[in-house]
Amino acid sequence: MTPELLSLAKYLASSRAEFALSEMNQYLSRKYEEKELYGLLKPHLYDLDLFCGRDFKCTKLIKRALPADDAVLRELKKELKTPKLPARIEKLVESYIERACGKDWDKGETAQLIRDNIVKQKEEYWTAGGESQYPKIRIISYLLYHFPVYFCQYQYLLLELLEKGALFNKMRILDVGSGPGTITLSTIDFMRKLLESYSKNGMDVKLNIRFDSIEQAQENIDCYKELTSGYLLGFPPGNAGIIINEHVHASVSAIEPAKAPGDTNLVIFSNVLAEMRIAPARRADVVERIATPSKNPTVVIIEPADLDNSKALRVIQHALMKKGYTVFSPCTFIWDTGCRGDNCWSFLELGNIQAPGFMEKIASTGEFYRYMNTDMKFSYVILRKDGVAKHSYRAKGKFLMLANLHKHVEKRINVVASVMSGNLGDEKTSVFKVCDGTTSIPCYAVLPAYHINDGNRALLDAGYGGIIMISGTLVRENKELSSYNLLITRNTLVTPVSPPPYFS
Ligand SMILES: C[S@@+](CC[C@H](N)C(=O)[O-])C[C@H]1O[C@@H](n2cnc3c(N)ncnc32)[C@H](O)[C@@H]1O
Repeated sequence: MTPELLSLAKYLASSRAEFALSEMNQYLSRKYEEKELYGLLKPHLYDLDLFCGRDFKCTKLIKRALPADDAVLRELKKELKTPKLPARIEKLVESYIERACGKDWDKGETAQLIRDNIVKQKEEYWTAGGESQYPKIRIISYLLYHFPVYFCQYQYLLLELLEKGALFNKMRILDVGSGPGTITLSTIDFMRKLLESYSKNGMDVKLNIRFDSIEQAQENIDCYKELTSGYLLGFPPGNAGIIINEHVHASVSAIEPAKAPGDTNLVIFSNVLAEMRIAPARRADVVERIATPSKNPTVVIIEPADLDNSKALRVIQHALMKKGYTVFSPCTFIWDTGCRGDNCWSFLELGNIQAPGFMEKIASTGEFYRYMNTDMKFSYVILRKDGVAKHSYRAKGKFLMLANLHKHVEKRINVVASVMSGNLGDEKTSVFKVCDGTTSIPCYAVLPAYHINDGNRALLDAGYGGIIMISGTLVRENKELSSYNLLITRNTLVTPVSPPPYFS
């Protein structure tokens, strides 16, 4: 890229609403093919606020929230109802495995080695060490077992952000602890779906996205590069300008703010913090350091749903709130209290993905269940610095805070709370964790099947993070579990406060 070319592009970008790349030749000391000009300018288009399409026409891209029309949201929701890896990603992953382990990777000794590694990885997660006949075996096990679910589940959070206007047509995204590129690939695929939906609905939306990533393991960086470049090669450029920057090859725990990519709109820690062998409060310091160079980033933290990791996430969340972050979702601080984050086990369950062919192949043994991983179940928090939240509702007056339940045991009361679990009960009794941010003592709404009626069904439909008013519920203390149950009977009225979720 010559300085002459760059300054001309800057001039045209600032002085014209639209221009063709071929026009640049009028002002340059040598002539370029349009394709050549596009290739040279591509890495700079994001900073120039320019979108250049397949036809080599460039337009000014003014940063704005991506439109979230009802028709678009409905279509995306419908697509996410049958979650699966897109065929091209599935093919890319399988080719990667074949290149590393040979065409017969799913047979005989090789398959057994991979299966053993999957089991070992489940037990020790990424700490599985030692020499292997296949140097990439750890990443291959990860791709086979963890990648598909993590890829699919992230798109639900993107949908949530889109719905609230927190995704933009110009976005810099930082994938922290990127592994093989799960989050980057999932985002690109989400944008593909979104652009298809815009186009179907007659909306001309163009976007420029720049990805950065931080990763400590070279083998993961190599895999990320292979998979993302492979996916982008066949990705119809259409209305999306996508740039993937070189990784910052480092440990996030050692990184100084100066080295973290700045000006980021979206920072994602997907299944990374749990791997750091430091106390949750120190993990919050890491998040803060990485996010510090950006003005008002949306920070997404995803962690496994198990008791320890899930609880640790809420402690990290609380530590970040003390540093000035605000919660976008899933928690709503209904009484403006802000909880302490301790003793909170809460996760989102989204059902099963359709298993990709490669997972079925490695699982086709007597112990199918050991190698199948299709259940989307995870703990997450989305943080901001500007107070923007998924639900802005605040309670007034006539409800009791959950912190005061102990004074009302065996009495009927009114509360307003967020539903913070899926159904933890069975066919006979539905049980949902509820929270209003005022207490760390667990509270559950309990609805026996024979009491379900139109007046209280909203409990079942509220969805994770949804807010409900419960009028006339009976308070019961569960001394054994040190918790409170709110019994919902046919005389209890449950009213939704928040609109039904796009996923539940
Ligand atoms: C479980 S994988 C998650 C990968 C990807 N984010 C996903 O959701 O599938 C964790 C990744 O974080 C990386 N990682 C763990 N600790 C790290 C650290 N301190 N600094 C940078 N990367 C780290 C690991 O090398 C691995 O690639």
